Amino acid sequence: MLPLTLIFLSSWALICNAGSANKGENCTQSDNRLQAGTFQFFDDCNSVTYCAANGTCLLKGCRKDEFPFGYVVGAHVPDLCPLGEFCPDEADACQTLLPVGSACQLNRDDECEAPPNFADLRDTTNRGLNFNGSICLNNLCLWANKTANDDCTVENTAYIAYGEAGEFIDIVSRGDCVVGLYCDSSTKKCLAEKALGAACTADKECSSWNCLSSGTCGVDTTLPKHVGTGVYVAVAVGIFGGIFGTLLGLFLLHRRQRDTEREKRMQYWREQNAFHQNLLQMRQTARASILSLPNNGNSARSTMYGRDGMPSDEAPILQHAAPKASGLRHYMADDSSEYDEGMMMQPVRDDNRF
Ligand SMILES: *[C@@H]1O[C@H](CO)[C@@H](O)[C@H](O)[C@H]1NC(C)=O
Ligand SMILES: *[C@@H]1O[C@H](CO)[C@@H](O)[C@H](O)[C@H]1NC(C)=O
Ligand SMILES: *[C@@H]1O[C@H](CO)[C@@H](O)[C@H](O)[C@H]1NC(C)=O
Ligand SMILES: *[C@@H]1O[C@H](CO)[C@@H](O)[C@H](O)[C@H]1NC(C)=O
Repeated sequence: MLPLTLIFLSSWALICNAGSANKGENCTQSDNRLQAGTFQFFDDCNSVTYCAANGTCLLKGCRKDEFPFGYVVGAHVPDLCPLGEFCPDEADACQTLLPVGSACQLNRDDECEAPPNFADLRDTTNRGLNFNGSICLNNLCLWANKTANDDCTVENTAYIAYGEAGEFIDIVSRGDCVVGLYCDSSTKKCLAEKALGAACTADKECSSWNCLSSGTCGVDTTLPKHVGTGVYVAVAVGIFGGIFGTLLGLFLLHRRQRDTEREKRMQYWREQNAFHQNLLQMRQTARASILSLPNNGNSARSTMYGRDGMPSDEAPILQHAAPKASGLRHYMADDSSEYDEGMMMQPVRDDNRF
C-alpha cells in the first residue's frame, strides 16, 4: 500500500502544476516559476485560480488546454481564447498574439504571431516543430523560416525523465529551421534531416525522428508496425489449427463413448426384434391351438377375440409388451451385460422350442 501511495503522491506532484491556496487566499507572484525537471508552470494558487497582482488567488480567466487539469466534473471551466489571442501559463486572461521578436513563455509557440507564409512554414508532421510557422526559442518569438546552411537559433532544454533504470536527462533541442531541416547545435546552421541508417547524435537529426543508441537513424516509432506475411500465415495456422485440433480432440474423445452407445442400441434392437419374433410365434401358436380345439368352432373364437379380428387380436399382446419393453429399456441404461445376454438367449431358446 505504501509504495503505491508514494507513487501516487509523486506522480501527483509531477502532474500538479499548482500550489494549494484557494480563491481569495494570499499568494506571492514572485513564487511563480517553472518546476525543475518538468518545466511546468507553478504558482502558490490551486489549479483553478491564479495569483493576481495584489497577492490574492483569483479564479482563472482563460484556459489553454481543451481539457484543463484540476477541475471537478461539472465545474465551470474558463473559456479557450479566440483566434488571434492566447492564454498565458498564468491563465489570468486572454492576450493578443505577440509579434515576432517579443518575449514568450517556454514552448508556447502558440503565443507568437504567425508569419505571412505560415501555410508553407507550419509543421504538419505532428512533431511540435512549430505552431502555425512561429516558434518560441529562448523566450523569443521567431519564425521557423531558416533554410539550408542559414544561421539558426537553437534551444536545448534538459528535462528529467524517468525510465526503467531510474532518472535520466532527456535533452530536447529545438530550432527555427524550416520543416525538413534541423539546427545543428555546434555550428548553428540548418542541415538537412538524415535518412534511415545515417549516423546521428540526436533524434532531431533523423527524418524518422528516431536516433538509435547505436548512433544511426532508426525507423519512425510513430509509424504503425507492419509484420511480414509469414506472421499472418502463422497466426492463421494457429487459429485454424487450434479450432480443428480442438474439434478433432473432442471427436476422438467421444468416439469410444459413441461406439459404446451404438453397440448398446444395436443390442437393444436385436433384442426387441427377437422379442417381436417371439411374440409373433406365440400368437401363431395360440391361434393354431385355438383353431385345433374340437367343437368350439368359429362362435367361440369370435366371442374371445371380437369380430374385428386382427386389431383386437394384437391389442392385449401389445399392452403386455409395452411395460416389458420400457422395463427392458430401463435395464439397458444400466448396461447389465449379464441380463442382456440372458434376454438375447431367451428368444433363441423359444425359437428352438417352437
Ligand atoms: C494575507 O495578507 C494580508 C495582507 O498582506 C495579511 O494581513 C494577512 O495576514 C495574510 N493572511 C494570511 C493567511 O497569510
Ligand atoms: C485583489 O483584487 C481582486 C480583484 O480586483 C479583489 O476582489 C480582491 O479583494 C483584491 N484583494 C486584495 C487583498 O486587495
Ligand atoms: C495561422 O495564422 C493565420 C494568419 O495569422 C491565421 O489566419 C490562422 O487562423 C492561424 N492558424 C491557426 C491554427 O491558428
Ligand atoms: C524569417 O523570420 C525572421 C523572424 O524570425 C524574420 O525577421 C525574417 O524576415 C524572415 N525571413 C524571411 C525570408 O521570411
